[in-house]
Amino acid sequence: MSVDRGLNLKRDVLDREETPFDLSLRPTDLGDFGGQPKIKERLEILVEAASQRGDTLAHLLFIGPPGLGKTSLAHILAKAMGANLKCTSGPVIEKAGDLAGLLTTLEEGDVLFIDEIHRLQKTIEEYLYPAMEDFKLDIVIDTGPNARSVRLNLPKFTLIGATTRSGLLSSPLLSRFGVPYRLDYYVAEDLKKIILRSARILNVEIEPEGAFEIARRSRGTPRIANNLLRITREFAQVRSGNHITQDASHQALTMWGIDEDGLDEMDKRLLETLLYKFEGGPVGIHSLAVAAAEEPGTIEEVYEPFLIQEGYWKRTPQGRIATERAYRKLGLTPKKAMRELF
Ligand SMILES: Nc1ncnc2c1ncn2[C@@H]1O[C@H](COP(=O)(O)OP(=O)(O)OP(=O)(O)O)[C@@H](O)[C@H]1O
Ligand SMILES: [Mg+2]
Repeated sequence: MSVDRGLNLKRDVLDREETPFDLSLRPTDLGDFGGQPKIKERLEILVEAASQRGDTLAHLLFIGPPGLGKTSLAHILAKAMGANLKCTSGPVIEKAGDLAGLLTTLEEGDVLFIDEIHRLQKTIEEYLYPAMEDFKLDIVIDTGPNARSVRLNLPKFTLIGATTRSGLLSSPLLSRFGVPYRLDYYVAEDLKKIILRSARILNVEIEPEGAFEIARRSRGTPRIANNLLRITREFAQVRSGNHITQDASHQALTMWGIDEDGLDEMDKRLLETLLYKFEGGPVGIHSLAVAAAEEPGTIEEVYEPFLIQEGYWKRTPQGRIATERAYRKLGLTPKKAMRELF
């Protein structure tokens, strides 16, 4: 299997363009949204309480790595409230006028979804504060000596923000959302249910063990689970009588370079770089990125959260360091044990 294929697979995680495949699998109700039981229960209460009062939902912020269901939740909540959903994203809003244009077309009860909200410019963010707090928008008309500020009333709307990088969110913005909702990586059992649901929608025959094999190699991420299901389906069609067994999943994923622990070629390349080129660290993210030929942002956003969560490396003020598990993964003796030998 080529390295390129592995990289492309992971790029799918970053690719926020929705394909018909994604759209067909996106859950539309909280009942279809697998896993994240705590968040689901809280959201159910918020929806019911707001509906009973005939009110709009309070503003919400979803934080979590790519592919865990932030955008899906925005769609689900808007539908549950019977509200229109307007979607945009931080980098798309270039000028205050873009934001004003969006806000002034909202109707009472609408949901405005701002993806990658951490990438909103600070000057634009400031227009958002009165809009969120008092449903008012201050716009400046004219320039020079004639410039004056006009305050517009906005309809009561719900802002849903999503971010993969909560550390980059300004504290005034964070505080205006109240309690943020942090999505965690999914446990394999929940991913298995998501895979079984996707297989039903796609009309794919799959055994529960086949689904579990995909689930445990999906890095705790539903989007990856669906992508691996797609690969396994193709494999099963050609090699396994259109039927996904545990063995078929194992063979397909191994062929595509996803190992037993869900690590792919790029993860392994990062671990090798850290261990061989930097002797296990500490090394700064930029040096690591150059040596591994990957963007620092992609490493921080996509690869690192999982590698940290699974205990392969640590972030320290001095830089990234490999843990014993990383050494063992590559069949090496951990540095600490080596030191003790001499
Ligand atoms: N809890 C879930 N149950 C079922 N499917 C899910 C769930 N969460 C995510 N998915 C699937 O994973 C895909 C990706 O989810 P989504 O687009 O909501 O992630 P995201 O957190 O917005 O990612 P990004 O940060 O990249 O925008 C969805 O199209 C959906 O099919
Ligand atoms: Mg999204």
